Amino acid sequence: MRSITARREYGLGSLSEHEVDPDPIRQFSSWFAEAERAGLDEPYAMTLATASAGGRPSARVVLLRGVDGRGFRFFTNYRSHKGRDLESNPFACLLFDWHEVERQVRVEGRAERLPEAESDAYFAGRPAETRIGAWASDQSEVVADRQALERRYAEFASRFGDDVPRPPHWGGYLVIPESVEFWQGRPGRLHDRIRYAAEGGDPWRIERLSP
Ligand SMILES: Cc1cc2nc3c(=O)[nH]c(=O)nc-3n(C[C@H](O)[C@H](O)[C@H](O)COP(=O)(O)O)c2cc1C
Repeated sequence: MRSITARREYGLGSLSEHEVDPDPIRQFSSWFAEAERAGLDEPYAMTLATASAGGRPSARVVLLRGVDGRGFRFFTNYRSHKGRDLESNPFACLLFDWHEVERQVRVEGRAERLPEAESDAYFAGRPAETRIGAWASDQSEVVADRQALERRYAEFASRFGDDVPRPPHWGGYLVIPESVEFWQGRPGRLHDRIRYAAEGGDPWRIERLSP
């Protein structure tokens, strides 16, 4: 066993239930802007956790592609492992690990497919290679080898040219938050944790959690 004892103290900032924005999306947006200003690499990369209908969890990184009062958006293959999970069990968790600024944000809620028009609009704005890639990859399925994947890519590239339509099995999800927790590292492991819980309408209930 290799035991790991490295640890460090956190002390860059603090968070108070009396100072946070009453709206979690506005609070998220302000932390997101600070993460960008701090020069974090891909602060929009988040861990998406899902669970199968039988309760088996899985997690992976996806990119946040938009956030507003309705929720958090990401795009993927609906037939992938995560897509299959979400079709049978729509509850999802998003986790932003903004380590360099000693912050973490956890979003829990229900995921639903975005309207097709929104997925079309996002897909159309992607670079051609990634649009072809969306056709070539049966995401999460076993593929014989790298060559097989590249052959499929070449086939779709020559079939579509520059005019690549969105595959019907590819699109976005909206995660509608039911709770959003903001974590700020503090000295002595007495971290600040502020959780917003949806009460079925405004306002959000804001509570401090024990670290
Ligand atoms: C930085 C980063 C960003 C990623 N962004 C996405 C994404 O936006 N959508 C996506 O489907 N997969 C994305 N992936 C790949 C996923 O982590 C994952 O491998 C893939 O979606 C298959 O997951 P699944 O088998 O659990 O469905 C990203 C991976 C990394 C490391």
